[in-house]
Amino acid sequence: MINFESPASGPVFMNEDKKKYCIGLGVTGGIAAYKAIEVLRLLQRAGCDVKVAMTSHAAEFIRPLTFRALSGHYVLVDDYDPGNPDPIAHINFSQSIDLFLVVPATANTLAKFANGIADDFVSSTYLASTAPVMVAPAMNSLMWDHPATRRNIERLKYDGVMFVEPVSGELACKTVGTGKLEDVENITAQVLEALGGAGANERVSDLTAESFLITVGGTREAIDPVRFITNHSSGKMGFAIAAAAFERGAKVTVVAASTSADAPSGPRIVRVESARDMYRAVISEIDGATVYVGAAAVSDYRPKNEAATKIKKKDMDEMTLELEKTDDILAEVANSRKNGQIIAGFAAETTNLIEYAREKLLKKDLDIVVANDITQEGAGFNTDTNIVTILTKGVDEPESLPLMSKRELADQIIDRIVKIRNAG
Ligand code: CTP
Repeated sequence: MINFESPASGPVFMNEDKKKYCIGLGVTGGIAAYKAIEVLRLLQRAGCDVKVAMTSHAAEFIRPLTFRALSGHYVLVDDYDPGNPDPIAHINFSQSIDLFLVVPATANTLAKFANGIADDFVSSTYLASTAPVMVAPAMNSLMWDHPATRRNIERLKYDGVMFVEPVSGELACKTVGTGKLEDVENITAQVLEALGGAGANERVSDLTAESFLITVGGTREAIDPVRFITNHSSGKMGFAIAAAAFERGAKVTVVAASTSADAPSGPRIVRVESARDMYRAVISEIDGATVYVGAAAVSDYRPKNEAATKIKKKDMDEMTLELEKTDDILAEVANSRKNGQIIAGFAAETTNLIEYAREKLLKKDLDIVVANDITQEGAGFNTDTNIVTILTKGVDEPESLPLMSKRELADQIIDRIVKIRNAG
């Protein structure tokens, strides 16, 4: 039996026999509403049952049918809808959940919650629920900073509402500031933490015998002391694999070049700049690894002669850079692999995805190639999601996976690594 003490209410109990938490997911009307889909799927993966309630404005962004299909539950938008199977849904819904999570929470919804206004299903559920409440706000930064919103937030925190604070970044209105919805992985992690971490631990610790070495990010190849050649890699995919492997019990070392994503806490991080630095770091770490994942976007070429001082434009009207090939780290690791080492690589392509990915699998002698077409929406650099096809050594058919969060995909990739290990 797990006991929640919410300052706003009495204790709430969860039946241990259920083995699952039931999350009430409130979706309100903001552009970030689509991210609630990923939160739902991540919570399901962590063993939670998720029931969705939406405001009518949220239903303008995402159709309730999407949530219904994914959650397997009727989606509540209007208590009085004749199609609603439950005549007192806001009471029954609010009493059947272990936590009420609102993603995204608009300024309007926060204002309603703070003032006890219950004029839609989500705000009625808030009032009728005795479960702990967590909100993940997302809004324009001026609305977030407005004294009225600040007052409402203060009030809600006083009432015991937990906040997944928005982060700073580019907002839907093209301005930059605080108000962007926190990463879906972090929202899910905070929910699981609030629930006592039980959901997070449901996946077995199946990697306790493995040591992962993972390369992440985009390398920087210096032209002179101020300029370099690089690429769009954010490090999100590699860090997600590192976080997943660590959570599943592996020892994890990450060799990270330039990244804009936050590094996970837990894995050991070795920072590098160039392809040459990365090569050296990998070679010095590889003996201790049982699994190598080459998730970095390593520059294939570097300037042949790095200028010792800043190149001045007044000296020339045109400039030609002579480039030389870098070492292929992945190929080198595969070429000198030790007994039992499993080696996975990535193939980011714009054309002939399967053909090029298979070529990499065979030529570099890899166990797995994770291939993605970066021209597809929702796939590729700097997104929270990816759409990939996985090619495995000895398996004829490539396996195409649907759009999913990079964190979810990380577990999928690891599941395949575990399968290879178990097959000997
Ligand atoms: N890789 C590496 N070292 C390099 C280049 C790439 O380890 N110098 C790794 C990447 O981490 C990734 C995989 O190789 O796992 C990508 O394969 P690659 O054939 O190098 O792809 P591209 O760099 O995209 O090259 P190409 O233009 O041939 O497709």
